[in-house]
Amino acid sequence: MLVLGIESSCDETGLALYDTEAGLLAHALHSQVAMHAEYGGVVPELASRDHIRRALPLLKRVLAEAGMALKDIDAIAYTQGPGLAGALLVGASIASGLGLALGKPTVGIHHLEGHLLSPLLAEPRPELGSGITPMNGHESPLKLRFPFIALLVSGGHTQLMRVDGVGRYEMLGETVDDAAGEAFDKTAQLLGLGYPGGPALSRLAEQGDAYRFKLPRPMLNSHNLDFSFAGLKTAALTLARKEGPTAAADIAAGFQEAAVDVLAAKCLAALKQTGLKRLVVAGGVGANKNLRARLDAEAEQKRFQVFYPPLALCTDNGAMIAFAGAMRLTEAQGHDGSFTVRPRWDLSSLTAPS
Ligand code: KG4
Ligand code: ZN
Repeated sequence: MLVLGIESSCDETGLALYDTEAGLLAHALHSQVAMHAEYGGVVPELASRDHIRRALPLLKRVLAEAGMALKDIDAIAYTQGPGLAGALLVGASIASGLGLALGKPTVGIHHLEGHLLSPLLAEPRPELGSGITPMNGHESPLKLRFPFIALLVSGGHTQLMRVDGVGRYEMLGETVDDAAGEAFDKTAQLLGLGYPGGPALSRLAEQGDAYRFKLPRPMLNSHNLDFSFAGLKTAALTLARKEGPTAAADIAAGFQEAAVDVLAAKCLAALKQTGLKRLVVAGGVGANKNLRARLDAEAEQKRFQVFYPPLALCTDNGAMIAFAGAMRLTEAQGHDGSFTVRPRWDLSSLTAPS
């Protein structure tokens, strides 16, 4: 079965073709980061308009790359939510229009389900790397199986989920204020690193001393699996004002160290609480090198397995939507051509495909 995936929930237009036999055939992405940079954040109306401009050329590109035609598509998966309403509507209406024109089913996917299932995506394309990344010193890929703990760390979400199967998600903890990626972005901005600053902050931190300033680890000892990042961001702001630009690298390193400490500690607590031995890290902040290094070291020491999507598929993309769609397509959803988007949508409200 050949599934077209369309992601348009925020500022990335992603299209992909996933074949249930052959794996991921092609994926293409347009990032709007440069367009939104001058505003210091995503401008929803500009995002929607750009998705309209980019989606069809990207569709042509993935079809050409996979050597397929529109008529070869068996089903279409699109991001139904959560995200920006207008941006979601672009992907949903393209999916629905194509579904009606081709007489093929469409399926609306929860964006975070896309992220958390993405390490299961087997990759036949070597330039994208192995789909299931071998970690903690093992040379051959470890096999990811349900159940597992998933840490979802993106610009909009920070959640720990217990995952027992497709659509079987139990929320164990989440942020009570800022998402981890949001905290990285806001701290980067106050250090003058532009938007979105997560990767830039991480690069600057490489030159800094993580122990010069002791930044807070909010909720580290809260005895639950919730997170908080607002206080950490404010502490970085206060330091930046006091110490000036020459301290930027040390503040960046101190901030990153504190964020990684909290994220890693909560993952370990979730594994301990559930007795599970597999951890999946998904979402944009999952690309952070220090977070990966810390979790790999913990996994080695505490004997659990940790899985990441390939780096290219850590941030928003169409491949994860096509893959989640393929896994859900036993369900008949949206056959009448109608569709809705869900800008706010609780992941643990999903049900397993019947
Ligand atoms: O999953 P994603 O692409 O989009 C959302 O659904 O939010 O995540 C984007 C977030 C941004 O906040 C970005 O700054 C952060 O992931 N990010 C990073 C890194 N790469 C991306 N944060 C820290 N270190 C990185 N290397
Ligand atoms: Zn995302």
